[in-house]
Amino acid sequence: MHSLLVTGGAGFIGSNFIRYMLAAHPDLLIVNYDKLTYAGNLENLSGLENHPSYRFIRGDICDHETVARAMEEHSVDIIINFAAESHVDRSILGPAVFIETNVTGTTALLDAARKYGVVRFVQISTDEVYGSLGEEGTFSETTPLHPNSPYAASKTSADLFVLAYQHTFGVPAVITRCSNNYGPYQFPEKLIPLMIVNALNDRPLPVYGDGGNVRDWIYVEDHCRAIDVVLHHGVAGEVYNIGGGNEWNNIDIVKLILRELGKPESLITFVKDRPGHDRRYAMDSRKITRELDWKPAKTFEGGLRETVRWYLDHAEWWKRILSGAYEEYYRTMYVERERSFR
Ligand code: NAD
Ligand code: TYD
Repeated sequence: MHSLLVTGGAGFIGSNFIRYMLAAHPDLLIVNYDKLTYAGNLENLSGLENHPSYRFIRGDICDHETVARAMEEHSVDIIINFAAESHVDRSILGPAVFIETNVTGTTALLDAARKYGVVRFVQISTDEVYGSLGEEGTFSETTPLHPNSPYAASKTSADLFVLAYQHTFGVPAVITRCSNNYGPYQFPEKLIPLMIVNALNDRPLPVYGDGGNVRDWIYVEDHCRAIDVVLHHGVAGEVYNIGGGNEWNNIDIVKLILRELGKPESLITFVKDRPGHDRRYAMDSRKITRELDWKPAKTFEGGLRETVRWYLDHAEWWKRILSGAYEEYYRTMYVERERSFR
């Protein structure tokens, strides 16, 4: 029986991944290792507390000793690293913690992978390592790395350490680079959940710049399935792009959300742009389709409708988040911005 250390399992994608894996592979032991930062929420895993194949350990990936204890106590032989500071805007407010968790933390896990001789290390990375595209083209695995935000720079550094540990020490590591995820349990600092909860509260919807920035959206469960495929069949030292093949500009998504909720477009507020804002991301995922037979299954309209429904049905989940430190974050991030309408 394999034992997986899933770091960051209390966050958005990690918690979806744990639910997915417990259903798909009941023979695996899943050890969720999470520091429970502002983004980590054990409510994302409610109902699993007593699952026979699930354990939770509160710990920081930068803390070698606690990582070592987790590895030994549960005979971990696979590490999947989701743990990260994940929000671009926060990385602009304060990059230091991004370097600490995303770079130092990833190398601490790589050291543990070496020491305990894991059979697989999966680094969950992002399309943002490639930088920004113009009107045309897509990112492939061979596109030069050109990160623009502190978040993207920290994820790129982590990727380079993963490849170096694979090359130098033979750590059997693979990297997945995915586009923008959406779905249940996403913290309402990211575009889609932020717009949903603001609309539900009849609060202005703050669209950065001209709203013409483009992202390639993928439903979180499609991403989880891709990670599962890479975990089982990916080749050590390889990078796999994962995309939705689903480009949307921000303003159209915001309008779609308002339509789903029956709310007026007058809630849309154009605000001061994000500094260094990447214009367009688009993924070429042909490698994972060709080599590992994966492709996304969910349509965007269907996935977005389900996601809106989920937030409607789980108001207590996001209301608890909004009632905590979030309000101060929102003030810091948006009040000034909203004053400087374009
Ligand atoms: P998230 O912010 O929702 O969750 C991050 C989790 O990591 C939280 O549970 C948090 O408590 C935990 N964490 C943070 N620092 C930690 C530390 N030092 N030690 C242990 N745990 C720590 O993030 P997410 O959106 O679920 O993203 C997960 C991963 O996927 C990240 O590595 C991110 O870079 C990557 N990714 C995200 C997206 C996206 O659209 N959200 C797209 C591509 C890649
Ligand atoms: P985000 O969800 O932060 O993901 P990322 O920047 O990592 O792609 O943002 C997605 C897009 O939405 C990005 O172009 C920035 C834009 N955006 C807004 O216009 N307003 C907002 O309040 C947020 C959070 C994002």
